[in-house]
Amino acid sequence: MAISTGTKKIKTAVFISGTGSNLENLIKFSKLVKSPISIEQIISDNPKAKGLKFGKYFKIKTAVYNFRNINKAEKEILSDLRKKKINFICLAGFMKILSKKFIQNFRGKIINIHPSLLPKYKGLNTHQRVIKNKENFSGCTVHIVNSKLDAGKIILKKKVKISKKENSKSLARKILIQEHKLYPRAIKKLLSSL
Ligand code: GAR
Repeated sequence: MAISTGTKKIKTAVFISGTGSNLENLIKFSKLVKSPISIEQIISDNPKAKGLKFGKYFKIKTAVYNFRNINKAEKEILSDLRKKKINFICLAGFMKILSKKFIQNFRGKIINIHPSLLPKYKGLNTHQRVIKNKENFSGCTVHIVNSKLDAGKIILKKKVKISKKENSKSLARKILIQEHKLYPRAIKKLLSSL
C-alpha cells in the first residue's frame, strides 16, 4: 500500500474506546493545511464511547463494531476501510487488541499512543503501576502496531517528571497533555519518512 505525502492528505481512520481527547486533538491537527492526514472515519468497539460525539461535531463518519466476535468485526472494518480507501490507522485510547491478520493488511500503517515510556509498563493500568513502583519519570510513547502488545517500533516518546504528591489521576492528566503534543509530531515524523 503506497502512501503519498504530496499535496494529497492520507485518508485516515481513528479507533477509540473512550473519552476521545486524543481523537479531538488529531481531528484539529488534521484540519491544518500542513497536516499529512485527513480523518475520514472514527471506529469504536464501544457504543458508549464519549469520543463518538466528535464525529457528529466535526461531521466525520462514525461506526461501532461488536468485538465479541473479533473475526467478524475485523472483516467488516476491513471492508469498510477499503471502500473508503483508508490506508492509515491511528489508535487513540482503543482498548481492544487487533489480530495479527488485521495488522498485516496495514503493514506499518497502524500506530498507537501508549501512556508510558515503552518498553516499560506495557498493557493496562499503567499509571497505577508506575506510582506503586515509585518511579521518578513516566511519559508517553507513539509506536507502530505489530502483533505483540505495545511492542512495535517506537516513533517518538516524551518523558514526564513525577512529583512527590503525584497520584494516578494527576499523572494521567499530566501525561495526556503531552500525548496531545506528541501524537501529531509522531504522525508527521512517520509519514515524512515513508
Ligand atoms: C490515553 O491516555 C491513551 O494513551 C490511553 O488511553 C487514554 C485515552 O484517552 N491508551 C491506552 O492505554 C492504550 N493501551 P482519550 O480517550 O482521552 O484519548
